[in-house]
Amino acid sequence: MFFLKMTIPVKRGLIALSLLTAMCQGNELKDYCSMHKFDNLPPGGLRFTKEVVTTEYANIGAFKALHCCLRGYRSIEWYKDNRAYPWPGGESHFILYPESANQTIYAQKVRASDAGRYSCRARNDTTILEGDITLAVLGEKSGGYTGKPLPTYRPASQLVPLGGAARLFCEAYLGKVELPDAKNSVTWSKSDSNVTLPNHGRIAQHRVSRENNQIIGSYLEIEDITLEDYGEYKCEVSNGVDEEITLPAHVYRQEPQFALGLQNGSWRRSFLVGVLVLVLLISAGAFYARCWLPLVLLCRDKFAPLEENDGKECDALVCYHEKDSSLVIGIMIPTLESRHRYKCTALELSQLNQNWGAEIGPHAVSSRRVIVILSPASLGNVWNETSVGTVLNQLSSLTVPTIVIATKDLSNTSTIAKRSNRGCNDSSEFSLDRLKILRWDENHGTSGSGGQKFWYKLRLAMPPVRPISAESGCQSVAMIVQANGKCGQQKARSRESLEVLV
Ligand SMILES: *[C@@H]1O[C@H](CO)[C@@H](O)[C@H](O)[C@H]1NC(C)=O
Ligand SMILES: *[C@@H]1O[C@H](CO)[C@@H](O)[C@H](O)[C@H]1NC(C)=O
Ligand SMILES: *[C@@H]1O[C@H](CO)[C@@H](O)[C@H](O)[C@H]1NC(C)=O
Repeated sequence: MFFLKMTIPVKRGLIALSLLTAMCQGNELKDYCSMHKFDNLPPGGLRFTKEVVTTEYANIGAFKALHCCLRGYRSIEWYKDNRAYPWPGGESHFILYPESANQTIYAQKVRASDAGRYSCRARNDTTILEGDITLAVLGEKSGGYTGKPLPTYRPASQLVPLGGAARLFCEAYLGKVELPDAKNSVTWSKSDSNVTLPNHGRIAQHRVSRENNQIIGSYLEIEDITLEDYGEYKCEVSNGVDEEITLPAHVYRQEPQFALGLQNGSWRRSFLVGVLVLVLLISAGAFYARCWLPLVLLCRDKFAPLEENDGKECDALVCYHEKDSSLVIGIMIPTLESRHRYKCTALELSQLNQNWGAEIGPHAVSSRRVIVILSPASLGNVWNETSVGTVLNQLSSLTVPTIVIATKDLSNTSTIAKRSNRGCNDSSEFSLDRLKILRWDENHGTSGSGGQKFWYKLRLAMPPVRPISAESGCQSVAMIVQANGKCGQQKARSRESLEVLV
């Protein structure tokens, strides 16, 4: 009797305890998917709302639940080793928990045969999501697991942009911890720091447990990620005795171009194209500046009809005032004759520049071109529109194409033509069309690029001369380079000839 009297309250207590446990488990099953959901899921669509625990452990005879927390689904189907729910008793005792809208399956007393791979397959009208959970059944009916904590969810490393949010989750199965003063723990820390991470604030860890504290875990949530937050974190799980495991995970920086990839790419591409076009334009400009004249000259010399058998004796009649004789005898004629193979005749003009037309006329007949050197000295140091215009007027009436080489800048030649018209009482306006006016720069004429251009222009104004033998083909850039090179030599020569003269 006494024994019986004692057992009734004990039995009642046990019943009350198991009822309490069942209620707690009921709440836990109901609440599991509504707590610790992902904060910043994009709206709409089918998604998992929290991590799907990948490996579950259960002691034989213990209560066990498996969860797939989802939103936006039309249906969830459960499979065990690819066999759809419901399962025959020999295969699994797990049943759906309808209060959680099929997100949870559970077994009151787990058996060894329940072990296996469970999958939840959720669908909306277009998409299927699947979560896999492997269930391992441990131990003897009576005993509880007391070994090293068994990871149920290993935290996954993440790529997070600066200012973004990260969430790391770790969880482990401890089993039964029977020692009364044993205090199990799960703690997140940064690997390079001993500082314990707080439970609230921008960086916070939240401890969770389920199934009678047999499974413990922790969410580490970091908002507004800063540069110092990147790095390795570790989750340490201890059963309070002497068994501890460490689960590491990295938070890596996601570089901005991951998001702006396309935009950046196209921006870079257009920038490169722009640079390329600019480079091409510049080189085209440089090519034009350097090589246009030589190119035209080469083509002209190669293809233009020669002025032969026209009864003329020479290519150029070079007319000059004695003040310019050094230029003509020292540079012009030698260069034209030896370098460019023109046959020249020199004609020294008198002081009376208003008679130059008449002086040149008779000699010009036997030449293909007339070259007249015009310098301030040759005009008695009167270099204005009237004095120059007078000379140009006379020269324009010559029957032979005439090249005027001015050693000083002429102001606008067309105004010279008009003004000098008014000056002379000549009613017919003279035309400068038949005059080719070139500028000889003392400084550039003997060195620098100005001189080079001068010679190309002068040669263009002269009759064509066929290139010597192999030097042919105006398409070849090498040719042009060669031509430029030759100009260099020619410059050197003209400098030499000047030096000889001095
Ligand atoms: C189904 O879920 C996917 C993924 O979230 C989403 O893109 C799609 O729009 C959803 N379909 C419907 C019909 O809701
Ligand atoms: C839950 O599962 C049952 C049985 O498979 C099914 O009839 C029911 O439609 C499911 N409910 C949801 C919301 O998926
Ligand atoms: C962290 O702790 C270890 C030993 O526990 C110690 O050697 C180390 O100096 C500590 N580091 C910092 C930054 O406090």
